[in-house]
Amino acid sequence: MITLDTVTKTYGTGARAVTAVDGVSFSVDSGEIFGILGRSGAGKTTLLRCLNLLERPTSGTITVDGVELVSLSRKDLRAARRRIGTVFQHFNLLASRTAAENIAYGLEVAGVPTARRRDRVAELLELVGLADRAGNYPSQLSGGQQQRVGIARALATDPSVLLCDEATSALDPATTDQILDLIRDINERTGVTVVLITHEAEVVRRICDSAALMEAGRFVESGPLLRLVGDPDSRLAEILLPTGDPDLAIPGRHLTLAFADERAIDPTLSRLTRDLGVEVSILGGTLERVAGHQVGRLRVAYTSDTVSDDAVTEYLRTAGVTVKAA
Ligand SMILES: Nc1ncnc2c1ncn2[C@@H]1O[C@H](COP(=O)(O)OP(=O)(O)OP(=O)(O)O)[C@@H](O)[C@H]1O
Ligand SMILES: [Mg+2]
Repeated sequence: MITLDTVTKTYGTGARAVTAVDGVSFSVDSGEIFGILGRSGAGKTTLLRCLNLLERPTSGTITVDGVELVSLSRKDLRAARRRIGTVFQHFNLLASRTAAENIAYGLEVAGVPTARRRDRVAELLELVGLADRAGNYPSQLSGGQQQRVGIARALATDPSVLLCDEATSALDPATTDQILDLIRDINERTGVTVVLITHEAEVVRRICDSAALMEAGRFVESGPLLRLVGDPDSRLAEILLPTGDPDLAIPGRHLTLAFADERAIDPTLSRLTRDLGVEVSILGGTLERVAGHQVGRLRVAYTSDTVSDDAVTEYLRTAGVTVKAA
């Protein structure tokens, strides 16, 4: 659905040049929610702006819905952009227009006749749970309600891709959860492909199917979330499901365990103690639902006089746990 091939964006030239996006390649499947997690300055916004060509990449290609965007004429690009909706951190609503009029704006520009426009706006207000707020101005709406208008506006022309730039960063935690659930719900109902950027692990954990970790303009890791959290070496997994301080001075052999398999959540560790006579301490970890599955990562320490380290590792692997010596 979306493919980026070695996209680079450099601002400025010579000694002042800043490479905000540095050779990024990735694909997003149709209907997927793909999250890009990174700290401030990592290049997330620049990358998202490249995705709809608000920012023209210095090199590389961007294909959305089978159309390569970088090589399009201005006119064709305008048409292609209608297939891509964007939701902004600070909502960017027009203060002089009501909720309904804000949502209608893109339809007016696209020349949709009045009656069709009215029906579509009513449908969108319903979709985002604001049917009773059609006539309110942005100043009469809460942040969460304004973002619902922002989402409805982005969906007005029925895009196949929804881009979200820190869509929940201006909202409190409870409202963030509601907006994330709304995006997930819309994704499931309409099949729209979602790319979101965020600096909050919770956003990725709550709704993404796949994700990337971005640092200094590059993807350091990317892939389906379930695969990443099942990999004890994954840095993105450590951000999403932290296992605590790696330098705890607890005696014994330390292991990082990843459970991406519901069988493994069973009391594997207590069985390990019973079956092999190994004393296990849990040093830290997180159990969560990720991409609809119960997953977890734990850091443990154990001591044993009776069985080999290989036997312990093998026992855990057989139980469906991925093991790494920490
Ligand atoms: N228009 C611009 N001109 C010059 N440099 C820019 C421009 N926009 C961004 N940059 C630089 O590119 C780098 C990446 O910025 P970008 O805004 O993409 O990061 P970000 O990951 O979105 O950060 P944040 O989480 O703070 O929004 C930064 O070093 C920034 O200073
Ligand atoms: Mg940004």
